[in-house]
Amino acid sequence: MNIAILGTGKVGSALGVRLASSGHQVVYGSRDPSAASGRTDRRTAVASADVVVTAIPGTAVLTTLDEIGEDVLGDKIVLDPSAALTEQRTMASYGDSIAHQVQERFQRARVVKALNTMNHTIMVDPWASLPQATVFVSGDDQAAKRTVSGLLVDLGWPQDWILDLGDIGTALATEHAAPLFFATAMALHTLTFNISVSRSSE
Ligand SMILES: NC(=O)c1ccc[n+]([C@@H]2O[C@H](COP(=O)([O-])OP(=O)(O)OC[C@H]3O[C@@H](n4cnc5c(N)ncnc54)[C@H](OP(=O)(O)O)[C@@H]3O)[C@@H](O)[C@H]2O)c1
Repeated sequence: MNIAILGTGKVGSALGVRLASSGHQVVYGSRDPSAASGRTDRRTAVASADVVVTAIPGTAVLTTLDEIGEDVLGDKIVLDPSAALTEQRTMASYGDSIAHQVQERFQRARVVKALNTMNHTIMVDPWASLPQATVFVSGDDQAAKRTVSGLLVDLGWPQDWILDLGDIGTALATEHAAPLFFATAMALHTLTFNISVSRSSE
């Protein structure tokens, strides 16, 4: 699968390395394509992709996709792990999610929210340090969610740790769990943890 990763920071690099090692063709779309090999400009990266990963600040996702353009984005899958935070790590906005706003603005794109509720090290190595964990998935398009679930399996997630919450409206719940993440990190003095949903076997 051809995957464009927007953003070359912690999340973009972690996902890119792991997905490439699983056999995917990964290209990095960067604001500074000349900074390192393997990077290109964001429009070029997205043009050749099946899946676009928005590994950039949540507050920059809409403007970045606007710059890339709906003509290029088309009906591609947008895997959005972003969080929209202030510099003080509080929510940048309440009442709506970035993923929902992207879906509203780019109606042909197939937006899937996932991976935003954990640290980047856990995204690509869920088994290593945790006995169990949950990765939430939200999106309107069932086929896109199946594709993203396949990528999650490639990242190391057992299928039964993947919890499909429903349509893109449910991304509000996981995006607004960011304060829970930071409060837990402060309490535990570590980022190596994750939410685990425990359910009855019935
Ligand atoms: N770090 C985590 O563990 C974690 C966990 C869950 C969710 N997230 C979310 O995932 C996203 C990426 O996080 P990160 O930790 O990888 O951040 P990061 O290390 O700061 O990297 C973000 C990358 O996005 C690009 N970027 C920065 N500012 C931008 C702007 N104003 N407009 C467009 N692109 C910009 C940059 O890449 P270029 O210079 O190459 O363009 C930068 O390297 C964020 O939304 C974050 O909240 C992070």
